[in-house]
Amino acid sequence: MNYKKNILITGGAGFIGSHVVTLFVNKYPNYRIINLDKLTYAGNLNNLRDVEDKPNYLFEKADICDFELMLEIFKKYNISDVIHLAAESHVDRSIKDPFTFAQTNVMGTLSLLQAAKVMWEDNYEDHLFFHVSTDEVYGDLDFDDTYFVETTSYDPHSPYSASKAASDHFVRSFHDTYGMQINISNCSNNYGPFQFPEKLIPLFINNIRNGKPLPVYGKGENVRDWLYVVDHARAIDLVFHEGERGDTYNIGGFNEWTNIDLIKVIIKTVDKLLGKPEGTSDKLITYVTDRAGHDLRYAIDASKIKNELGWEPSLQFEEGIEKTVRWYLDNEEWLDNVTSGDYLKYYEQMYADR
Ligand code: NAD
Ligand code: TYD
Repeated sequence: MNYKKNILITGGAGFIGSHVVTLFVNKYPNYRIINLDKLTYAGNLNNLRDVEDKPNYLFEKADICDFELMLEIFKKYNISDVIHLAAESHVDRSIKDPFTFAQTNVMGTLSLLQAAKVMWEDNYEDHLFFHVSTDEVYGDLDFDDTYFVETTSYDPHSPYSASKAASDHFVRSFHDTYGMQINISNCSNNYGPFQFPEKLIPLFINNIRNGKPLPVYGKGENVRDWLYVVDHARAIDLVFHEGERGDTYNIGGFNEWTNIDLIKVIIKTVDKLLGKPEGTSDKLITYVTDRAGHDLRYAIDASKIKNELGWEPSLQFEEGIEKTVRWYLDNEEWLDNVTSGDYLKYYEQMYADR
């Protein structure tokens, strides 16, 4: 089959990437989707069961930091566009090991950009490099009515957000210096199925299920804006097809919660779905030492994507959180595999001969 586009999606075995790959493979049978992922602890091909047998889906196990290999893959598949999600994504890990974050998020992004430049420089107008980034590059906000907009100055605080900020700058530099067509989206906290249970929502669902303590950093007063992951994938689809090239789009849920209020909703929902009396798991709440450099508040003004491209979240938070809790409770095997590390052994063996 002659595909209209050959789209390289990096990080497609991770949480958000697997939803983006699934959406694109199913919605666009005339696009060939090449999912490129190193399968770190966060990558899991079980997230792609819905699409793994589709004719327009391919998987490449590879490290984005390997520039020669990226060139090879661009040539092999005649890559027309990139949607770049591969990254180290967890703030707590970045505090312990900033080097890996600089390596993957900065050098890996640069290696992809350079491969795209080599392959596309004769006709940039036919190609797009789309970087999926985070609102954390903007730093944090006070408890007032201010919001991050697309023109807010970058002010990252954690090694994670510093590495994402640096990669955003490199992406823009390839637009400004060489004329590559790019888009960047900066999104707030995502939640939903397939999120690795080190992040707040799946970690707490898993701990409640196992009767383990729920570690609340500091006083639990920090604020995050939460968006259901499928709505993020819809926004990426829209920007990919209709975004003004060279532009940035903020994506958010119009849905701010203090951590402690959110945690109470999670506890209530898990207890309800497990058939336990309301309040049963409240005793698991455990206040612990705050995260170093813990950003106070993130809040996105998503009016640009709403006004220009007509995007809005499709799910109310109450509906999204119930759907999410139900998914984790119905997929205990997925949770147990991910937390036991069995899936890593499985993939090590599977790829030992490659
Ligand atoms: P994730 O940690 O679940 O997945 C990351 C994926 O990247 C994994 O599959 C991993 O194997 C892969 N990867 C890591 N290093 C790689 C390398 N060197 N080469 C190839 N693949 C590699 O992350 P996520 O939460 O799905 O986030 C995806 C992207 O979206 C990231 O760029 C992140 O910064 C951004 N983002 C995340 C959120 C959020 O709330 N999770 C919000 C906004 C933006
Ligand atoms: P997280 O899911 O790690 O996302 P991010 O740090 O990128 O926003 O954390 C969300 C919020 O929850 C953040 O304010 C830190 C807090 N948190 C806890 O209180 N306890 C935890 O165990 C975790 C993982 C996070």
